Amino acid sequence: MAREKWGSRIGLILAMAGNAVGLGNFIRFPSQAAQYGGAFMIPYFLAFFLLGIPLMWVEWEIGRYGGKFGHGSLPGMLDKMWNKPIAKYLGVLGVVSPLLIVSYYMYVESWTLGYAFFSATGSYFQASTFDSIRQFMTDYISPGGAQFLIAIVFFVITVAVNFFIISRGVVQGIEKSAKVLMPLLIIFAILLAIRVLFLGTPDPSKPDNSVLSGLAYQWVPDFKVLLAAPVWLAATGQIFFTLSLGGGEIPTYASYLKKDDDIVLNGLATSSTNEFCEVILGGSIAIPAAVAFFGIAQTQAATGNMGLGFLSMPLVFQNIPLGQFFGALWFLLLFFAAITSSLAMLQPVVTFFQDEFGWSRMKSSLFAIGAAVAIALPCIFLPGVFDEVDFWAGTVGLAVLALIEIIIFGWFFDIEKGWVEMHKGADMRIPKIFKFIIKYVAPLYILAIFIGWIATDLPAFLAKGDIYTWGARIMVVVLMAIFCILIKIAWDKKAKAAAKMKESLPAPPFAAQKEEK
Ligand code: PHE
Repeated sequence: MAREKWGSRIGLILAMAGNAVGLGNFIRFPSQAAQYGGAFMIPYFLAFFLLGIPLMWVEWEIGRYGGKFGHGSLPGMLDKMWNKPIAKYLGVLGVVSPLLIVSYYMYVESWTLGYAFFSATGSYFQASTFDSIRQFMTDYISPGGAQFLIAIVFFVITVAVNFFIISRGVVQGIEKSAKVLMPLLIIFAILLAIRVLFLGTPDPSKPDNSVLSGLAYQWVPDFKVLLAAPVWLAATGQIFFTLSLGGGEIPTYASYLKKDDDIVLNGLATSSTNEFCEVILGGSIAIPAAVAFFGIAQTQAATGNMGLGFLSMPLVFQNIPLGQFFGALWFLLLFFAAITSSLAMLQPVVTFFQDEFGWSRMKSSLFAIGAAVAIALPCIFLPGVFDEVDFWAGTVGLAVLALIEIIIFGWFFDIEKGWVEMHKGADMRIPKIFKFIIKYVAPLYILAIFIGWIATDLPAFLAKGDIYTWGARIMVVVLMAIFCILIKIAWDKKAKAAAKMKESLPAPPFAAQKEEK
């Protein structure tokens, strides 16, 4: 069966931007920036130019190239780019990481839907202190909490919507929904950013608590922070996460390109749309609003995990006119951003079963959703599993796969050949310096970051050794093993089918024809 192709260029760009723009832009980015202050932006932009932009092009190319051979997920793509038996197994992360990430991501996505509803109805408007709003959240998200059943209802709705869209396919499902949701998301975000920028100094008796000091906090660097590793690791991790790099989602979407569709300009458009939504829009909402009402110290204190989005913002809405309306706008914005990303994380799994096992779209979608929910359950019900899976899949996994991709592309597929391939159908030429960046700078950069992680974050993580944490680690390893076995089964099957084809070919006439020539 022929693979689907994107219906239009604008649809493609909106779908790719939808893939990248997510909770990362509006919650994760402001939380990280708040943690480190203005210094964060320096390693952030450095990583964007040296890793983000080049990897985006490389992932588009890997995807378009693999798609030509009928492969929509990384095992098949890497197999085509590097003709070694191990290559397909190196792509396993391109199916397993998105599956792991989407499981807890859909749960948070469902909170945004729930909170949009709570905003519209004003349910949390009595919880007017940090303690009480935190209690409200705990009651909602923790098993046994007073509102937990409602959380489950919203989770089921979220999963159902994801399934409905993904099972309709790339053009009718993903592209169509991106064309509606992405413009809405941008309009909502602009409205919110304007509202926040007009907050000024809400309490004149506390002149330090203002939108301006929020912006200054985010943009004026304290260079001393740059002397320690954590800010570098956090900023680089954020670039991977926000651009959806290293998880297999971009190559999967790119596999639905036609063989000479432009990738250079489109890839750049995707990266810049994401950065606009992150730095300009995402940066003008949560932090300035929180600093205006609660000051810098309090904002920093409440940023951990989802604090900025689910604690500070609901408190802000209680303090502004039309708060219920703006609250609903904020959480719907988050929901739209999240769902266009969760679809992107489901698709590599769906297409893996379609392309490599010949399953129908319906069966593959059911399987992908089923697997995601099965993994989500421990993340929802068992303490610590969520954070553990997020660390391995959402941080370490992304960097490892990005490294594998860029080495295979720059060294084994070969950068010269890759350069020519990337420019097929291109509407713009990539500056030559990126050849050097792709081949040398980016891999070394990722390697350095990786060593940094091992040295600073890993010991603390490994020290956490309770049964749930270990359970989560074992789950990750088992899942990788299962998918490696699936890859082996698929390839063995295909090899057998190919051998059979050869046998059944009418060999003599062929040979005769050749001789005649
Ligand atoms: N980029 C998405 C976000 O910013 C999330 C994501 C991460 C998607 C990793 C795919 C891979 O929220």
